[in-house]
Amino acid sequence: MASYHILRLFSFCFLLFSSASSIERSTSDPSRCNAINSFLPGKVFFQGDGGYNASDESYFFAEARLRPACIVTPTSATDVATTIQVLGGNEQGSSAPLFAIRGGGLLPNIAAANIDGGVTIDLSAMNLTIVNEDKTIASIGSGARWGNVYRTLDAFTLGIVGARIATAGVGGYFVGGGLSFFSPQKGFGCDNLANIEIVLATGEIVNANASSNADLFTALKGGSNNFGVVTRYDVQVFPQGLYWGGAIEYPPSTIVQQLEAFATFKDPRNFDPYAEVELSFFFSGQSYTVANNMFYTLPIVNASALQPFSDIQPQTLNTMRISNTSDFAEEIVAFQPSNPQGFFATTVFRTSLPLIQRIFSLWNDTTPLLQNVTGLLYNLDLQSVPTFIPGNSLGLENAAANGSNHTGSLTICLLSNYWADTADSPTMIFVTQNLLTQMKDAAKEQGLDERWEYLNYASEFQHPIESYGAASQANMRAVSKKYDPNCVFQKQVPGGFKLFTHI
Ligand SMILES: Cc1cc2nc3c(=O)[nH]c(=O)nc-3n(C[C@H](O)[C@H](O)[C@H](O)COP(=O)(O)OP(=O)(O)OC[C@H]3O[C@@H](n4cnc5c(N)ncnc54)[C@H](O)[C@@H]3O)c2cc1C
Ligand SMILES: *[C@@H]1O[C@H](CO)[C@@H](O)[C@H](O)[C@H]1NC(C)=O
Ligand SMILES: *[C@@H]1O[C@H](CO)[C@@H](O)[C@H](O)[C@H]1NC(C)=O
Ligand SMILES: *[C@@H]1O[C@H](CO)[C@@H](O)[C@H](O)[C@H]1NC(C)=O
Ligand SMILES: *[C@@H]1O[C@H](CO)[C@@H](O)[C@H](O)[C@H]1NC(C)=O
Ligand SMILES: *[C@@H]1O[C@H](CO)[C@@H](O)[C@H](O)[C@H]1NC(C)=O
Ligand SMILES: *[C@@H]1O[C@H](CO)[C@@H](O)[C@H](O)[C@H]1NC(C)=O
Ligand SMILES: *[C@@H]1O[C@H](CO)[C@@H](O)[C@H](O)[C@H]1NC(C)=O
Ligand SMILES: *[C@@H]1O[C@H](CO)[C@@H](O)[C@H](O)[C@H]1NC(C)=O
Ligand SMILES: *[C@@H]1O[C@H](CO)[C@@H](O)[C@H](O)[C@H]1NC(C)=O
Repeated sequence: MASYHILRLFSFCFLLFSSASSIERSTSDPSRCNAINSFLPGKVFFQGDGGYNASDESYFFAEARLRPACIVTPTSATDVATTIQVLGGNEQGSSAPLFAIRGGGLLPNIAAANIDGGVTIDLSAMNLTIVNEDKTIASIGSGARWGNVYRTLDAFTLGIVGARIATAGVGGYFVGGGLSFFSPQKGFGCDNLANIEIVLATGEIVNANASSNADLFTALKGGSNNFGVVTRYDVQVFPQGLYWGGAIEYPPSTIVQQLEAFATFKDPRNFDPYAEVELSFFFSGQSYTVANNMFYTLPIVNASALQPFSDIQPQTLNTMRISNTSDFAEEIVAFQPSNPQGFFATTVFRTSLPLIQRIFSLWNDTTPLLQNVTGLLYNLDLQSVPTFIPGNSLGLENAAANGSNHTGSLTICLLSNYWADTADSPTMIFVTQNLLTQMKDAAKEQGLDERWEYLNYASEFQHPIESYGAASQANMRAVSKKYDPNCVFQKQVPGGFKLFTHI
């Protein structure tokens, strides 16, 4: 019964896909840009405009700078609705224009938030953060970047479950899940949403929340850009004073101890909802470094949950201090390369010391292959899957049930790779894909594999929405059919992780 339903939904959008692709489709559609420009004068940038360049140059990864025919910069939900009415129209097939939805532009899936020859909707002008009167909800424009949100909330001594880096956008963060300093305590970012304002394919502006369009609300918590253009997130906030955090860097002589510390930290018996860690190994082509970001979200220096790491010596840099979220999130920006060639890829497994030792050595075994890559920054990063909170579409119910509410001992492994010369890109991708396969096999051998992938860290060659499992996919497809019956966000928004392109 369920599988029949999936098949029917699939063929529904699939038929539209095939009829659309059998006809020559114009992606470069200046007339559509001109039409939007006539409704939103001054808010549409064309190639050669300063505003076009500024937008296109502000993607995190250099490869994401594509060449859309125009970039639309709406300043209100009504502007977005107008744009979608022009782009969606009521037509299907031949001349349906292609477009992209862009928040901060940090997603590593390169064409997810920009489009060659089409229309890019850049939401960056919709960046206000407004705190409600009783200081329980922050209403955030979907084009905001986290640094701006934190500056506003820190002034009220309020916390929010947001990205750890100030430059990340709010737009893609919530619909992809959302990892945070506060995730051990409060789950994914999307678990903390009270309401989402979204423009649907019809151009209608609606709210999705627990009591209105509840199916859409659930689908959006993990469903990425498949349902509409989010214009505002209303997010639960909480009192939050200063806390302990920062970074510690160490020489490679500490690697064995770091792996042991991580296994200790991940032992469910040691779970502490205030402690959040990213353990990171870097290879630069010649040398290794260990650089950990660690946070304890109470004002406790040398918190015991982080001692397995903070006790390791020697240390070459230590910025651990009591401070606020704005300050911590800006520090993480300073650690990143700017505008690099690069990509992320990811996998998840249950933690045991033998498995993470094996994961490290598989990664380490690939480094000789990359010695000649110019400008290399090759990173293995280990962190926790957030505490399980029901109500999203990420499909972690089973994984969580097997451990406790802190999703057992699940570790997210992030491979983040940066380099200077596009000539090295095929090598980087080949090495990383092989490494992921080896890591999955190693986890399987030890009975510690997990199918789930984090969408916001996934490469274009990965399939995170499939990784949520069949039940979640079926729910999201039903929601797509209900709210977007013409499949506008499936066929006209080709970038990113789609519901109907992989089964
Ligand atoms: C250096 C770095 C650090 C990071 N740190 C963290 C972290 O601490 N925690 C974490 O969870 N993730 C982190 N990420 C990943 C980050 O969360 C994702 O890249 C996320 O998608 C960023 O959102 P964005 O608005 O910048 O994305 P974009 O690239 O603009 O968009 C991502 C996807 O979401 C869609 N989208 C964007 N806005 C909307 C909208 N309004 N409506 C509908 N769809 C939309 C886009 O179409 C696109 O497919 C990091 C990434 C980088 C590169
Ligand atoms: C935008 O960039 C292009 C090259 O990519 C350049 O020719 C043009 O002069 C730039 N426009 C402005 C206003 O800077
Ligand atoms: C919104 O974005 C504009 C333009 O980038 C910027 O000048 C402004 O400071 C931002 N406002 C907030 C509240 O983030
Ligand atoms: C956050 O901390 C930084 C560094 O101490 C400080 O400069 C800034 O004023 C603080 N912000 C707020 C809103 O308290
Ligand atoms: C949910 O949506 C309805 C309909 O728009 C709205 O009246 C209500 O205030 C929303 N609830 C929340 C929590 O925002
Ligand atoms: C924290 O640990 C460091 C290093 O061991 C030590 O120098 C410092 O005095 C400790 N601080 C507190 C407040 O315990
Ligand atoms: C990593 O690999 C190098 C050789 O490429 C080796 O010298 C080193 O010992 C390895 N490191 C660890 C911790 O295994
Ligand atoms: C790196 O360059 C050196 C010197 O040219 C060469 O001997 C070596 O084989 C190269 N290594 C790889 C992995 O390509
Ligand atoms: C739960 O754990 C058991 C035993 O470790 C395993 O056989 C089963 O596959 C796990 N279930 C899920 C959904 O991960
Ligand atoms: C997990 O959550 C459920 C429901 O919220 C609760 O009853 C249970 O006590 C929690 N278990 C743990 C280990 O926290």
